[in-house]
Amino acid sequence: MVVLDNKQDQPLHIKIYNLIKNQIAARDLQPHSKLPSIRNLCSELSVSHNTVEYAYQQLLAEGYVYSKPKSGYYVSLLDSEFAQPLPHHTANLQEKVLQKQSPYSYDFHPASLSPESFPISIWRKLLVECLQEDPRQFAVYGSPQGEFALRNEIRSYLARSRGVICETEQVIICSGLQDSLAIIMPVLRSDHSLLAVEEPGHFIPRSVFQNHSFAITPVPVCTDGLDLKALWSSKSTVVYVTPSHQFPLGHIMPVANRLKLIDWAESVGGVIIEDDYDSELRYQGSPIPALQGLHPEANIVYIGTFSKVLSPALRVSYMVLPKRMLDRYRNLFNESASSASLLEQRVLAKFMVRGHWERHLRKMRTVYKKKHEVLVQAVNRHFGDQAVIIGQGAGLHVVLELLNSVFSEEELIKQALAKNIRLFPLSKTYISHTESDTRQRLIMLGFGGINTTKIDHGIQLLHQTWYK
Ligand SMILES: Cc1ncc(COP(=O)(O)O)c(C=O)c1O
Repeated sequence: MVVLDNKQDQPLHIKIYNLIKNQIAARDLQPHSKLPSIRNLCSELSVSHNTVEYAYQQLLAEGYVYSKPKSGYYVSLLDSEFAQPLPHHTANLQEKVLQKQSPYSYDFHPASLSPESFPISIWRKLLVECLQEDPRQFAVYGSPQGEFALRNEIRSYLARSRGVICETEQVIICSGLQDSLAIIMPVLRSDHSLLAVEEPGHFIPRSVFQNHSFAITPVPVCTDGLDLKALWSSKSTVVYVTPSHQFPLGHIMPVANRLKLIDWAESVGGVIIEDDYDSELRYQGSPIPALQGLHPEANIVYIGTFSKVLSPALRVSYMVLPKRMLDRYRNLFNESASSASLLEQRVLAKFMVRGHWERHLRKMRTVYKKKHEVLVQAVNRHFGDQAVIIGQGAGLHVVLELLNSVFSEEELIKQALAKNIRLFPLSKTYISHTESDTRQRLIMLGFGGINTTKIDHGIQLLHQTWYK
């Protein structure tokens, strides 16, 4: 039911325009839902056809709605950062759920995504479509390697966007990084036992490697990524790397070093596990092509995920095995079931085939580029020369090096928490423990999950808290 505000002295068409615009901004009108027809609204409000028509034309001109010939007007999909917050609006169901998920006033956790960005209506439509297809699909296990259609889409996307060169038979659908690594470990086990990891680096792979009885050796990271001299002296024969956006420091391994790393693998009969987790999200210059594409025949296991751009909750990721490893993989896993849901795989395949993935990716790049820009400006404005930003220009987080700080990381995080600001301890990404070096002053600032409008104030609060 539509109720106009009689208190305000405005032309009727403006009142109707404002009312609908506010409902769209508050998500009381869901994206792609149909507006009442002009005729129905006229009779509901007892106003003229022209009045409603003017209001709808204004909404159309400003992009709040779109029109379908012979069908009517529909609500456009808007990001909440573009939607206007309402002064006294009551939270709708979706927002209540989101509030429940993040009890923090300012959430700078690096693994969170923009909560409003998941393409719910498209996903729902494709899901329903999949459910209405042949019911026999729910009575069987899928291929252990994953759905062919999805693997094929991923292969062609990787060739276009990441420079990865492979056949569809090399692509394996997994349910996240942990799953991919758990599959590779037995494939490598008979020839390898010592595995090098980046220091600092992602902590989940380390526990997977150790759980599969690999000894791990930390290799330091410098501004050019992994320290290759240290890798040679480590005597390991497998290395886990994030060359296009080192996690967590954000460094990019230059091509000369990538070639040297491949030489290392060829010389020692080694294997490179390339984790290309968020390289689609580059905000300055072009995306850095994957290492795999430099030598597609080499022993490089390439790993990617949908967790950074689409959703970490779907648990769908992929890996590209080198051809040399396929036989061993099949011997070990031919009788296994894929751990990725068949239904989600089918929905995702349709999502990619119909071009939604590339559109969504472009949209997310714009959303996160904006957040990244706001974050960098906020740090510069509030911290000035008291902090240096490390690893900016890509992904969903940056690292802040605090200068002249007297507090330990633990104290800094505790002080932030007292202001209801959530930070993730970067020290978790180190294996070795030292108390007194620069790492105590490194703070990870994720910007994926925090609303753009909150970034500046969150950063200001952090500065006030730490430098009061
Ligand atoms: C370095 C790194 N690799 C991979 C991932 C993605 O993991 P998954 O595909 O299991 O969600 C993340 C997520 O935060 C990450 O930080």
